[in-house]
Amino acid sequence: MKEYLRDLTDLSKEDILKILDLADEMKKNPDKYTNALLGKTLLMIFEKPSLRTRVSFEVGMTQLGGHAIYYDIATSPMGKKESISDTVKTASRYVNIIMARLFKHEHLTEMAEHATIPVINALTDFSHPCQVLADLQTIREKKGTLKGLKLAYLGDGHNNVTHSLLYGCALVGMDISIGSPEGHAPMESVVNKAEELASSDIVVTNDPIEAIKDADIVYTDSWMSYHIAADKKEERIKVFTPYQVNKDLMKHAKKDAIFMNCLPAMRGMEQTKEVIDGPQSVVFNEAENRLHTQKALILTLLS
Ligand code: CP
Ligand code: NVA
Repeated sequence: MKEYLRDLTDLSKEDILKILDLADEMKKNPDKYTNALLGKTLLMIFEKPSLRTRVSFEVGMTQLGGHAIYYDIATSPMGKKESISDTVKTASRYVNIIMARLFKHEHLTEMAEHATIPVINALTDFSHPCQVLADLQTIREKKGTLKGLKLAYLGDGHNNVTHSLLYGCALVGMDISIGSPEGHAPMESVVNKAEELASSDIVVTNDPIEAIKDADIVYTDSWMSYHIAADKKEERIKVFTPYQVNKDLMKHAKKDAIFMNCLPAMRGMEQTKEVIDGPQSVVFNEAENRLHTQKALILTLLS
């Protein structure tokens, strides 16, 4: 396995399944791992807001006997008086592992290149691999398997979570169908790469009903990602409304389909309240599994 996680394509199918198995085991027997990272430190570099990522990584390190440092780029010399390369080379002399939530994906890959310790992508504008590891754990818990299932993603296709779902589904053998408006499809290079990796089906369509038809998992994400300017809101509501996951659209998925959203979520936007707060929703299981999958990922990278 590589010594960093920039994207899920840094992992093989076997790597992913090993991390998920370890995450399941750590979730079941947390007490066995309380000293696993004694004396180890994680540096958490943040350029964007967060609830889940920040708290789950920090709690994860505490539960493993280690320590985490929150480092806000706004109060750092990085990008102003200090290069990314000097920042991570210096940090590599103090801490054992770095995670970073950044705007530009190139900055994350630059960190991974220059750090002498593992670097984890904790979300960039391009991808969000940690989220999808937690989502795969959640899907396997709920459905008992991954291979052969169909995941439908509705809404903003040109999106970090969507890109990571494409890679994740392709790697583990799940069909994925993206329903997004024209001009908001996933990046072509990501779709091509996912097709190369996949033995399963990959569909990108403008038709929300075609996308969601017979899905086992229905997934949506914010129409207003952290990097989208606030003045785009009205225009985006208009464009994405036909892709809103509501009761009517859910009727086209399988009866026992689960509903997922990486959160944060806006009721009345990418999904209705009745869907996200309804019996098919597993959004808080996904949120919880961020903790378990990241603990397993850190332990794997540091072993
Ligand atoms: N899903 C997720 O990454 O949430 P945060 O933005 O709160 O970290
Ligand atoms: N696409 C969302 C994911 C948040 C976890 C964003 O980038 O804001």
